[in-house]
Amino acid sequence: MRKQIAAANWKMNLTLQQANELLDEITNKNISLSPDQQVVFGVPFPYLLLASEKVKSNAGYFIAAQNCYNQASGAYTGEVSAVMLSSCEIGFVIIGHSERREYFWEDNEMLAQKVDICLSNGLKPIFCCGEPLEIREAETQNAYVETQIKESLFHLESSALHNFVVAYEPIWAIGTGKTASAEQAQEMHAHIRSVFAQKYGNDIAESISILYGGSVKANNANEIFGKKDVDGGLVGGASLKADEFAEIIKGLK
Ligand code: PGA
Repeated sequence: MRKQIAAANWKMNLTLQQANELLDEITNKNISLSPDQQVVFGVPFPYLLLASEKVKSNAGYFIAAQNCYNQASGAYTGEVSAVMLSSCEIGFVIIGHSERREYFWEDNEMLAQKVDICLSNGLKPIFCCGEPLEIREAETQNAYVETQIKESLFHLESSALHNFVVAYEPIWAIGTGKTASAEQAQEMHAHIRSVFAQKYGNDIAESISILYGGSVKANNANEIFGKKDVDGGLVGGASLKADEFAEIIKGLK
């Protein structure tokens, strides 16, 4: 069975002290996970090693970086490479979040390079896709998301997609409190899975975890995660509160 994942995306929030406390609070709850469930904390770069240390005795808990650069090393002041993350034994990298696409001009081609460099360094990308409001209103979201996937991922060999993670995050639902309905999420997730199935076959498509992101909270996680093609969530605001995120973890199927 593909993994069911509760992934926190802290974004640019929390001081070191607050990060410490939050990780302690959540890990001390000792929420037991089934072998198919995982918890991932997407933390800012300076906290990666600390966070790894904190979760290492909790089975099924992992750390993600929120980004990496598309080059292995060199004169790129301020950037962090997949090679570096891998040497720090980080498991996952969030790639192509809509905030990076918007504020840092990351396009589908650059994201394809980032996915490649993550995979070749043993890092699992959490590849984000999702449409802005005007695309949803024009009812062209399926084609829009399909293009994001094709342009950034369809060059991959099928073996690279085993246990791959995709996060569908409709931009109009991020940080707005306006969640996609569980039905809207399921509809898009099924579409995304069918896009992979057409290119790579059913077995690969069925092995990909597709997370929903956009105003996931303790009070809606269970319903959204309960849908057949929704394999957990990528959670922003609600992942910054220990009790709330703990409930979200418990909402995994
Ligand atoms: P949100 O953010 O849960 O605060 O809407 C989700 C995300 O951007 O990953």
